[in-house]
Amino acid sequence: MVFQGFDFNKQGPKRMTSSSQSAQKLTVPDILRTKQSGQKLSVITCYDATFAGLLNTTPIDMLLVGDSAAMVMHGYQDTIPATVNMMTTHTAAVRRGAPDKFIVADIPFLAAHKGLKSLIKTADTLMKAGANALKIEGVDGVEEAIKSLVQAGVPVMGHLGYTPQSTNTFGQKIVQGKTDTAAEKLLQDAEKLDEIGCFSIVLECVPEKLSEKITKQIKIPTIGIGAGAHCDGQVLVLQDMLGLNEGFQPKFLRHYLDGAHLVKQAITAYDADVKNGSFPNKSESYTS
Ligand code: KIV
Repeated sequence: MVFQGFDFNKQGPKRMTSSSQSAQKLTVPDILRTKQSGQKLSVITCYDATFAGLLNTTPIDMLLVGDSAAMVMHGYQDTIPATVNMMTTHTAAVRRGAPDKFIVADIPFLAAHKGLKSLIKTADTLMKAGANALKIEGVDGVEEAIKSLVQAGVPVMGHLGYTPQSTNTFGQKIVQGKTDTAAEKLLQDAEKLDEIGCFSIVLECVPEKLSEKITKQIKIPTIGIGAGAHCDGQVLVLQDMLGLNEGFQPKFLRHYLDGAHLVKQAITAYDADVKNGSFPNKSESYTS
């Protein structure tokens, strides 16, 4: 496969460690090569330096500073209130915590629709904050924006299917591409993103047969969330997979920790220790 002049057959895939050590930071060619090698890509969202520091020591391949930060970190109902400032602050924090990871930052709501000059300024800000690539939702209306970024040397990740910035259009209709027409449109959109130079595409809430078809049809890796097992990689929201968002249990979400329970247990124990006088003890106190 040759992508933008890079011959993937000439170099083996870079090591993506399965140990607890952090691997050398991935590059776009490494990510593209996984499509050929069949190695799955693991992606997780991250918004702050503390979690980024932990993730930096794990084998996870990519960190996504998603505009879900607006919901997870700021308590909004959807991603629409995310701003370039908000995304920049979180991207910089994640970069400080995870110097060795490939970081993708989201272009927030409407920031790709305000003209090329404005988009380039946004991209400049996010890349200088530490992103290695930017993610843009959709195709219609942002094709030229994506082409310009790619031409300017900014790797772009696409995002199709359920695109959360269009929540007001979708309403309760979460799973996309269910009808033949909608499936065909999704496939065409994915082919277009591949053609105009995206290096990967997030497929969100797409029936698994359709995401399998898209994955087979395009040259760049697909990263699924609620899109079944046939994608080239998977992405989850960190706080969701850690079980920190009580009551949030969409079909596609697997909990890897009972985070809410563990955090509450720890805080309750601390509260009790403070109130019964057992914290701090002698060894936790300065003697001089
Ligand atoms: O903002 C985000 O967290 C995302 C993922 C759900 C893919 O876009």
